[in-house]
Amino acid sequence: MEVVIVKDAKAGGELIAGAIVDLLARKPDALLGVATGSTPLPIYDALVAQVNAGAVDASKARICQLDEYVGLPAGHPESYRATVLRQVVEPLGLPETQFMGPDGSAEDVQAACDAYDEALASAGGVDLQILGIGTDGHIGFNEPCSSLASRTRIKTLIEQTRIDNARFFDNDIDQVPHHVITQGIGTILDARHLVLLATGEGKADAVAQTVEGPISSLVPASALQLHRHATVVVDEAAASKL
Ligand code: GLP
Repeated sequence: MEVVIVKDAKAGGELIAGAIVDLLARKPDALLGVATGSTPLPIYDALVAQVNAGAVDASKARICQLDEYVGLPAGHPESYRATVLRQVVEPLGLPETQFMGPDGSAEDVQAACDAYDEALASAGGVDLQILGIGTDGHIGFNEPCSSLASRTRIKTLIEQTRIDNARFFDNDIDQVPHHVITQGIGTILDARHLVLLATGEGKADAVAQTVEGPISSLVPASALQLHRHATVVVDEAAASKL
């Protein structure tokens, strides 16, 4: 695992956007896995800016989701599908046909999860997966105690994650879904390159456990230690307990 300490979130975003540009230069139709939350926004801003400045032709890039809420009405602005469309797919000018994600409103949720794992594999696998980290060390929506070999499946959010995400739902925890679909940790580890960005002091404990703690399902992000090409980019605040 490579750990890169940067000055701030903007610098982290620019660094990772640069890695995506390099990837697209080598492989124009690369499959880019994207995470939601506040942390990756500087990556997407920097990527769009670099692409608009002509750094690379991103028109063939393919985008895929890491996770999704279950049961939100179709088109809900806080569904991760709508979020990724708004933050990544549309700003890059990509058609929806180059964007894939799990169906959070499927009647048979497990069948939708299995179909998504199959779709990722038949798309050739994820080339670069961007990850954030929850305060409890979760990646995607793999909460503590998730199997390190898990595949895409339905999960129940713990209370802390629903509290953390209530800010996207008018600060009303009752609006935050209880259930989600997430790529499993095993699914995430299938990506060729994992890039985790963590910023701010609130992530310092989770980062220290991820990087320096034992590999444990209690800290799902520690599974990155098992990957042959994992990069953890942290700002000085998130690195403060390393
Ligand atoms: C959610 C997402 C994760 C994300 C996490 C942290 O739980 N499912 O993918 O990493 O939030 O979000 P933030 O970056 O806003 O702290």
